[in-house]
Amino acid sequence: MTTPHPHAAGMHAFSAETEGTVDQVLDYARGRVMYQNVPLDKPLTPRDLARLAGGSITPAGIGSRRAATLFENVLAPACLSTDHPAYLSFIPSAPSKASVAFDVVVSASSVYGGSWLEGSGAVFAENEVLHWLASEFGLPPGSGGVFMQGGTIGNLSALVTARAAARRRNADAGRSDPARWLVVCSSEAHSSIASAAAVMDVDTLPVRPDASGRLSGAGVAAALEEHGDAVFAVVATGGTTNFGIVDDIASIADVTRSRGVWLHVDGAYGLAAMLVERMRPAFAGVEHADSLIVDPHKWLFAPFDACALIYRDPAGARLAHTQHAEYLDTLNDAPDWNPSDLGIQLTRRARGLPLWFSIATHGTDQYRAAIEHGIDLAAGIAEEIARRPELSLVRDPQLSVVVFRREGWTAKDYQVWSDRLLEEQLAFVVPSSHQGEPVLRFAIISPLTTLELLIGILDTMT
Ligand SMILES: Cc1ncc(COP(=O)(O)O)c(C=O)c1O
Repeated sequence: MTTPHPHAAGMHAFSAETEGTVDQVLDYARGRVMYQNVPLDKPLTPRDLARLAGGSITPAGIGSRRAATLFENVLAPACLSTDHPAYLSFIPSAPSKASVAFDVVVSASSVYGGSWLEGSGAVFAENEVLHWLASEFGLPPGSGGVFMQGGTIGNLSALVTARAAARRRNADAGRSDPARWLVVCSSEAHSSIASAAAVMDVDTLPVRPDASGRLSGAGVAAALEEHGDAVFAVVATGGTTNFGIVDDIASIADVTRSRGVWLHVDGAYGLAAMLVERMRPAFAGVEHADSLIVDPHKWLFAPFDACALIYRDPAGARLAHTQHAEYLDTLNDAPDWNPSDLGIQLTRRARGLPLWFSIATHGTDQYRAAIEHGIDLAAGIAEEIARRPELSLVRDPQLSVVVFRREGWTAKDYQVWSDRLLEEQLAFVVPSSHQGEPVLRFAIISPLTTLELLIGILDTMT
């Protein structure tokens, strides 16, 4: 037997040095989680970062103290705090304190979340959350799913499952597959649908929504009439990214059910709103989805990154996604619930655990209240915008996204204003556009965002 090289176990050893490193890092993490007035921060150029933080990778290491100081003083301030109450662009994040703290535990515990054999406890807890969500969305018992990396991968995994089901149906009926498969969605659907289609080498058929921005059954029916069996899935959006508009899922579901086409609901951002009782009617029809997604790292207050992907019948997902190899037979031969069988991944962080811990800690009522805050705030600031002569709403908000314009401003004016806001660390509000018109957009997620804060931002536009 050879003795290990003296350095081989150095970074794994239980030593004063490793203990000091762990203490230092956990202290920093604790401080960041409990930071009262977290700075918004801003990006640096590659050149500045190379000057300030380059050269950290060396044969001997620079030591944890220097590395941590570099992160705290240079790298971290060059990353926007997406949980800042004035971060209102794209879709912000606002993880609860419990979920962030527990994310550290997930890392520390080296849980393998891909299989029941290796991670049964974690998978059980994740499934508790998935089953709760499924029942809130009206899916039947027997539905189930998996936490994926994000909405993009969740949508892709669901569409791969849908196409596999269409292929099986054709094979069973002795029909040949179409020359090109098609997925029907709204032209307002998220860019990840087109991205998934490109990965799958299928085509998308974007259908124009009605004047209110909603895709409806009539539009979908016309597309199906024209393209028939080439369509393997219809995607309804439960809260568009740009406007927070919920498609008319009930009428879309009527059409997909009568034609036997897979219905996928992309609720990455907005489906969380269905947890608020008064919002449920807006999502009628979700209960007919064959698959759906909702992202905990968006409006369910979990840290990056997590997407809950749920199937009405997980058996079809297994047929599409289970990986087969000699070294995996031991997993596949058992009748266990293996999350890696339900999407595009094998090794899997138990990324649903931070959400599980936070919901278990605070209860579902707290979640409903925190989501409702965003809806109420959006309505409140929309009223304020409507009152100001220099501003106008592009549409009334349905969920927690408010889109508006500043009369007389060009795209350049919006950009200059947005840059100044970030430079002065007041807020992060990037311009968006709608049908070629530059607009501004508040996406409200954080329960710490207040009406006063939003009014303060409007005041900078006079
Ligand atoms: C409606 C919708 N679908 C999908 C996605 C993609 O999610 P992710 O960024 O987690 O991949 C987003 C992201 O904003 C979204 O709003």
